[in-house]
Amino acid sequence: MKSPLPRLVLLLLTVATLALAGLPLSTARAAEAPAVPTDPAVIDAQVASLLQRMTLEEKIGQLVQCSSLSNATGPIERTNLEEQVASGQCGSMLNIIGAAETRKWQEIALSRSRLKIPLLFGYDVIHGYRTIFPMNLGQAASWDTDLIEQSERIAAMEASAAGIQWAFAPMVDIARDPRWGRIAEGSGEDTFLGSAIAAARVRGFQGGGLDRTDTVMACVKHFAAYGAVQAGRDYNTTDVPEITLRQVYLPPFKAAIDAGAQTVMVAFNDLNGVPCSANSFLLEQILRREWGFKGFVVSDWKSISQLIPHTIAANGQQACELAYNAGVDMDMEGRIYQTYLAGLIKSGKVSSAHLDRAVSAILRAKVERGLFVDPYRFSDPAREKAAMLRPSSLAVARRLAEESCVLLKNDKAILPFPRTARVALVGPLADSARDLLGSWDGQGRASDAITLRTALVDALGADHVAYAEGCGFKPGDRSGFAAAVAAARKSDVVVAALGEPWYFSGEASCRTHLDLPGDQAALLRALRATGKPVVVVLMNGRPLVLGDVLAHCDALLEAWYPGVQGGPALAALLTGAVSPSGKLPVTFPRDVGQIPIFYNHMTTGRPQPDDQPHIQYKSNYLDVPNTPQFPFGYGLSYTRFAFRDVRLSSPTLPMNGRLTLTATVANTGAREGTEVAQLYIRQLWGSVTRPVRELKGFRRVELAPGASAQVSFTLTPADLAFVHSDMTTAPEAGKFEVFLGGDSNAPKVGEFTLLPR
Ligand code: BGC
Repeated sequence: MKSPLPRLVLLLLTVATLALAGLPLSTARAAEAPAVPTDPAVIDAQVASLLQRMTLEEKIGQLVQCSSLSNATGPIERTNLEEQVASGQCGSMLNIIGAAETRKWQEIALSRSRLKIPLLFGYDVIHGYRTIFPMNLGQAASWDTDLIEQSERIAAMEASAAGIQWAFAPMVDIARDPRWGRIAEGSGEDTFLGSAIAAARVRGFQGGGLDRTDTVMACVKHFAAYGAVQAGRDYNTTDVPEITLRQVYLPPFKAAIDAGAQTVMVAFNDLNGVPCSANSFLLEQILRREWGFKGFVVSDWKSISQLIPHTIAANGQQACELAYNAGVDMDMEGRIYQTYLAGLIKSGKVSSAHLDRAVSAILRAKVERGLFVDPYRFSDPAREKAAMLRPSSLAVARRLAEESCVLLKNDKAILPFPRTARVALVGPLADSARDLLGSWDGQGRASDAITLRTALVDALGADHVAYAEGCGFKPGDRSGFAAAVAAARKSDVVVAALGEPWYFSGEASCRTHLDLPGDQAALLRALRATGKPVVVVLMNGRPLVLGDVLAHCDALLEAWYPGVQGGPALAALLTGAVSPSGKLPVTFPRDVGQIPIFYNHMTTGRPQPDDQPHIQYKSNYLDVPNTPQFPFGYGLSYTRFAFRDVRLSSPTLPMNGRLTLTATVANTGAREGTEVAQLYIRQLWGSVTRPVRELKGFRRVELAPGASAQVSFTLTPADLAFVHSDMTTAPEAGKFEVFLGGDSNAPKVGEFTLLPR
């Protein structure tokens, strides 16, 4: 371990050199502001010395997180916040926004509390701070981890300039139930894709190091299996067998922690009978003992006090004991630790060693963030002003919006339409700036967002775009239909921007019907009846049931909530300046009754062959096929791609070896485009049932017309490991099939055998 001494010597030498060179002392100071410690030994020493001086109440204060009253993101009681911060009874705040406001609260903590321990400010930076990028599920459709990382770098740069030191993200909950509104916040149904994106987000937030002022500390959430809430209803019970928990739900958390996330937020749900806020199996066994996690765990909003309605705590004191013993370090807006923990410790009912571990982890984060060097280093109004909505940030938002859109239907190559086309632009989402942002829109403003209407007028000219809203989201008012139909009649092509309003997904926004709300389907039928080609641009936070919509349109572009640059991105896609390249990160069902439906399911003892529907005594429905409307990984382009010359380096893979698959991807169409080459495997037999296929690799390949490129994927036995009945993870010798293509129905391209040890 490095000693701090050389740094000190260096500092003195530098000051002396500057003084000798005749430079003013202020220059010397500016040049050598005290360095933020990065040496673990120095950090630990600083934390230990602080800890020694703290009273029990001051220690507990560090475990208390309070929200601002005005921007609360959950139910809140009015308290004397200022008094609490001044007395050192609150160590962290959330929802305090902006350089000036964070500085104000930091000043209260520093000027009035005894030990002057700086506050840690956290905030939900979910898909951007001020520059709002596409909703997370849409970002996942880009399969572009580099670009996602860049978007988080920008989010971190903006948020940190506004005083935020800690983002409550990434949200990495695997979700296979589109009824759940929070599916919009995550990366979809797949563990492999979700883990890759989780790591990219952490790298983006923390890029370059937590000692820098332009980074935010990541908080991976919600631990765990929140996406598996029963019936897709938010906050509901979760029953997930441990083998599935470890195989499907936990790896994205592990990936985020391996990428450097030092904080974890627990989930609201109970997991197999124990709410996550009291779940020592999750927090102590898996997170700390198995994964060696050294950071700290924050509750979700009042989730400790919710142990009472969860029926495992009779009162606040018991809730406190359960959460504390389970390993929850910080109480978000719950007031439970603040009220009960001192009494529990004094009476010896809970151990104080645990308290020191929690406080140390929180203080360590504050030291690492440089708050003891300069508590105001993140609250800089000038930097804040300069950081927001930079042209380079908007360019990334635009690119990510383009890449996140998924072309689901394009009959007779109706898209792209020429710039000379006369367009009837219809629908409640055609000109709604707010809806472009989606839920959890941070400090985004509707006025920052460019709608499809504005962008199409820009691209085609006002005389080529006839706009008519047609209808809203509520049923009953069809008075706008006539104008919409009249506009359609005069047009060459109808663009109908339909979907869900932004508040139909996100927290506490679940649905049982996954169709278009209100009279939008009727509007679409009326437009279709004009005989004009109809293009649907869909904005929504989840997979919808699209049978009816597909029947009444020629083309359909899934745009999710595309963010501030949504309009220009869509205009570029519709007119062919850019070819769609997004691929679904989640399966689209034919019917709500198929849910949960996901590509990497197991077979049954009586599998239903896809090509022979409805054989009796098979695993099927009488009324709907087993297959989805659109499979995971699916998405069309304006060009075509072919996969050729697929080669596996060997038919066998030794337990200490590696296998390479190479292939050529060719653009065989007439336009430039990007294919996402997807590699899937299937293990034919194992000691526990094996999924029909599993994603093991993907590459985005950008190709000019007629061009081709080689892709290669390497597989090691570790990539083939799975969780066994005894909960160990290991590969198992046996036969594998390999599939390569542009979606999860990719054809089989080879086989190999993993050899026994
Ligand atoms: C959400 C979290 C969020 C927290 C703070 C909760 O209701 O579940 O995801 O970070 O509020 O806003």
